[in-house]
Amino acid sequence: MIINRNILTLDEFTIQQMRMFPNATGELSTLLRDIGLAAKRINVEVNKAGLVDILGDAGSVNVQGEDVKKLDVFANNQFIGVLKHGISCAGIGSEEMDDFVVFDDDISNKSKYVVLFDPLDGSSNIDVNVSIGTIFGVYRRVSKIGTPCTQEDFLQPGINQIAAGYIIYGSSTMLVYATRRGVNGFTLDPSIGEFSLSHPNIKCPEKGKYYSVNHGNFFQFPENVRKYINACQSKTEKEGGPYNQRYIGSMVADLHRNLIKGGIFMYPSTFDNPNGKLRLLYEASPFAFIIEVAGGKATNGTERILNIKPNNLHERTPLFIGSKQMMEELETYL
Ligand code: AHG
Ligand code: MN
Ligand code: MN
Repeated sequence: MIINRNILTLDEFTIQQMRMFPNATGELSTLLRDIGLAAKRINVEVNKAGLVDILGDAGSVNVQGEDVKKLDVFANNQFIGVLKHGISCAGIGSEEMDDFVVFDDDISNKSKYVVLFDPLDGSSNIDVNVSIGTIFGVYRRVSKIGTPCTQEDFLQPGINQIAAGYIIYGSSTMLVYATRRGVNGFTLDPSIGEFSLSHPNIKCPEKGKYYSVNHGNFFQFPENVRKYINACQSKTEKEGGPYNQRYIGSMVADLHRNLIKGGIFMYPSTFDNPNGKLRLLYEASPFAFIIEVAGGKATNGTERILNIKPNNLHERTPLFIGSKQMMEELETYL
């Protein structure tokens, strides 16, 4: 196999990007490097799962009542570790923490950014060797630099994200991140331990053949959503069909496929859970940002995800996200 050594690494790429802005301080590049480091450490553990004692439950339940897995805890600690000891992050919010964490030390208080993340997405797939991921969103603080960050820094609408991304621990490990300038994907080259630019300037195809939804919940969905799903199932060739249903239970994996190939992903409200399941701050908003920069759309059914002003860390939202034309068709049903 020939590996192209001219490919830029994540660090080289972010530094090049930074040089286009004469006033840039380099904090975002540093932050992305820190995130890349945590991702590599998590990747090592994910790859050993089954050999070391990292499968299964940690024996606790998080604030949302979900069983916490050992890898959830490991991934969360890795992220907190790099962000707390780095120079770019003033505080974090995580799926696995009850509340926001303000780092409040000299260096962190001088940092520009706060980060919200889901350290391990698709936890139910850990034990069965199916792709899992990490999701993150980065916001510039609105509070004064030099002071501890505040709740207002975290509760910003998604449109304010400076960057958002995900890591997919799949057949290969990839880090994909978006800034307003574009979406770029980096594949971990295990021979040198570096994320290397493999998918420059990713665009989401305007239409695709995939629709992703948990069909087990079908009779729990609102009627208009059921009608749209029926329409997906009855697409003729002339209408761009037939569509293929793909849903693996890790939104990182489902959305990665749909971003590259074109498709639509839905986690609607159900009668039991009127706000759906997915969390606004560290699942829906980062992906909405990535997909929109790539040319797609994301809504909660009535409102653009990126415009929603959050009220709390673990707030949930219905989510419909994907290729532009497929989303526009869906919107005629909603
Ligand atoms: P997490 O593992 O972080 O709790 O998130 C899992 C999420 C998401 O990745 C996935 O699409 C969805 O939950 C699956 O839920 P269902 O099993 O209800 O379809
Ligand atoms: Mn998740
Ligand atoms: Mn998770």
